[in-house]
Amino acid sequence: MSARPARINLERLLSRLEMLGEIGQVIGPNGERGCARLALTDADREGRDLVVAWMRELDLDLHIDAIGNVFATYLGLEPDLAPVMTGSHIDTVRTGGRFDGNLGVLAGLEVIHSLQDAQIRPQRSVTVAFFTDEEGARFAPDMLGSLVYVGGLGLEEALEIIAADDGARLGDELQRIGYAGPVPCPGVQFPESFVELHIEQGPILEDEGFGIGVVEGVQGISWTELTISGQSAHAGTTPMRLRHDPVYAAAVITTFVRDLTRHHGGDQVGTVGRIDIHPNLVNVIGSSVTMTVDLRHTDERVLLDAEQRLEQICAEVAAEEGVEISHRSLARFEPVVFDSEMVRLVEEVAKDLGHRTRRMPSGAGHDAQMLARVCPSAMIFVPSINGLSHNLAEDTHPSDIAAGAEVLYEVLTRRAGTPLTASGVPEQE
Ligand code: GLV
Ligand code: MN
Ligand code: MN
Repeated sequence: MSARPARINLERLLSRLEMLGEIGQVIGPNGERGCARLALTDADREGRDLVVAWMRELDLDLHIDAIGNVFATYLGLEPDLAPVMTGSHIDTVRTGGRFDGNLGVLAGLEVIHSLQDAQIRPQRSVTVAFFTDEEGARFAPDMLGSLVYVGGLGLEEALEIIAADDGARLGDELQRIGYAGPVPCPGVQFPESFVELHIEQGPILEDEGFGIGVVEGVQGISWTELTISGQSAHAGTTPMRLRHDPVYAAAVITTFVRDLTRHHGGDQVGTVGRIDIHPNLVNVIGSSVTMTVDLRHTDERVLLDAEQRLEQICAEVAAEEGVEISHRSLARFEPVVFDSEMVRLVEEVAKDLGHRTRRMPSGAGHDAQMLARVCPSAMIFVPSINGLSHNLAEDTHPSDIAAGAEVLYEVLTRRAGTPLTASGVPEQE
């Protein structure tokens, strides 16, 4: 490790992560401390209120847009220049951890707090943002807030989205929790560049002994909801040859998804994450099934092939079992390649700070992939213990959190311009 003194206050960052993690806290059967802060729920509102209060304490220039994204800016010496931006999300999946997204937001806040402590005002302003509904677990698609921010989805369309589980309308929930902000979408100035610190959420960095992941891009994501309609009937009296069983069709499709990943091999991943059976009773052949299929690949052509094969198996099993299958796309994002200069900067900074770095794609979706549409963007990964995420047991060592936050500090300050003290004098080493 380099002898460079720490720039950020790790204790303060850990304590904020702890406080935010207590909101919507879920304790697992083995004492795991996770989080359930689904987008636009009461717990999300409480989390937002806490982070906004911290932003206000730092006297940042605060803007909330009409989709509920929150932007807090520490003004630079040249406030007319586009800011450098960092951030992530604070919503979680229902069985989430304390770090996914939260780390990127609170580390960004910590960088600004540390700059203020040291009375350093960079040339460009530094903005920390948190984006609405990154997870997409309640309102699909994922990365919804950042997608609307960059103009990839119209505000009106987004406000009409209905929650998968509770049937709530996004626009109503946003109003209800008080985060339908006054700034139009798109409206908040696009940044000069964007960098997001995130936990890896997979096992590679830990397994291979790397300290910092230099993220080169994000794989393509395809989410499809399938509704399979069959014929509900008596489980004891209906001969097998006369059944139209949607649960059987769902099982064939689920098995197919696993087979497909073997067929494509390598980087292909596929997941059936949600299956709702109606009426879901022991002695009743199901009447309908709603299920989701999540397919991801770094190569768009392979992802397209996977989607076509999914359609084909659906047609085959529908004909075989005499059921109807309808498809609805919940999310579709092509693979994203991050700006090579930004990626190089992250790598250079991490190496300068003495870390072993590994270039890698991101398997998970992130707000940075949306920001990449409007400005040079990149990401910094830190290791996840046992590779776990979207799991109550998600965790990251404090030393890795410190390393990631220090890399973030350096990338932001280098990008924002040579750090100067408030009086305009270059910072002392
Ligand atoms: C978002 O976290 C996703 O990758 O599903
Ligand atoms: Mn995340
Ligand atoms: Mn997540």
